[in-house]
Amino acid sequence: MPAKEEFVVTPYQVKGKIDYARLRELFGTEEITPALLTELRRLAGGELHPLLARGVYYSHRDVAALLRQYEGGHPFFLYSGRGPSGPLHTSHLLQFEFCQWLQAKFHAPMYIQITDDEKFWVRAGLTRAETERYGLENLVDILAVGFDPKRTHVFFDTRSIAALYPIAVDVAKRVNYSTVKAVFGFTPSTNIGLLFYTALQTAPCFYPSWAGGAPVPCLIPCGIDQDPHFRVTRDIAETLGYPKPALLHSQMMPGLLGERVMSTTGDVADNALFLDDPPKEVDRKLRKAFTGGRATVEEQRRLGATPEICSVYAMWRTRFAETDEKFAQIDRDCRSGALLCGDCKGELIGRVQGFLEQHRAKREKVREYATSLIVERPPPGAKAPEPRGG
Ligand code: TRP
Repeated sequence: MPAKEEFVVTPYQVKGKIDYARLRELFGTEEITPALLTELRRLAGGELHPLLARGVYYSHRDVAALLRQYEGGHPFFLYSGRGPSGPLHTSHLLQFEFCQWLQAKFHAPMYIQITDDEKFWVRAGLTRAETERYGLENLVDILAVGFDPKRTHVFFDTRSIAALYPIAVDVAKRVNYSTVKAVFGFTPSTNIGLLFYTALQTAPCFYPSWAGGAPVPCLIPCGIDQDPHFRVTRDIAETLGYPKPALLHSQMMPGLLGERVMSTTGDVADNALFLDDPPKEVDRKLRKAFTGGRATVEEQRRLGATPEICSVYAMWRTRFAETDEKFAQIDRDCRSGALLCGDCKGELIGRVQGFLEQHRAKREKVREYATSLIVERPPPGAKAPEPRGG
């Protein structure tokens, strides 16, 4: 019998110390190889996003084929989403910054799903009014990363249900109880909203094909924890006449207090930096953040620190070292002991404060049009491509 895994990753549970290479094997996804990175760089016009270059996005499904189609003249659209269980923290934005980069480089329409229903169903303590309010606030933060409003569309589940429902109905008929039970780990006490929910997360994958009456390839950048939903999608896509979506999977972002994912649930508010944290809070939280530093200055100078386990290093890696040179310098000086944790934090704090200030200014600009991007009805005459079977 295979050894029991020491970690669990599903859309509804992330637990233990994640071995990402092993997770890729378990999920049966492909590795993002240097050759694929070269292709992405070439097609993006010579530039690679830092989250790709630094291996934060590390796994995929069918992206090589999607890029070949793209080169052959078949444009794709982007799809990603957010379950609004609370205010956004700095790491949540990464996925959308990455999507925005892809949108700009590949001239792709972007579809964003805000799942206020899902989070209401999954979190016992949340009211519908709360998930709706968080959803609208989260949407404004997401759009503030700079999506082109002319090519960006939003599904806000409780408001967009008329647009999504015809597809969800087709999908739901083909997904049975034993599948969702096995894939998501549902138990007899799971509410029936969640049993159905995956059909709604699938709907945007097919929406442009359905609305336009011809297949449009879909690329989904997401945390690898969301892959189980899209395995279900991919299993049924072709029988409904839609292309299987391609995926780019990221690792989960570590929180500020150590091994855990940067999560906002429970009693761990200091584990995350919120987009609304005032400069003093940023200072306080980062000063107490977990690092890979040594017990004494002398030891650190002599042995260097351990960036792999450091939450501050993770922030440099994912956003705050803008250039590859800066990132290489932080990495080198950390390992060699030239850089002490206090100084490293000091430099990062200034950058985070500046970033948040800029973000808040952008947010006020998009607030005016954010809800106008919500899709409420399908275009008249929307029709699925011919299904290939039952
Ligand atoms: N289920 C996701 C969450 O809990 C939200 C989501 C909806 C999503 N559609 C998506 C995430 C597509 C990634 C890609 O956050």
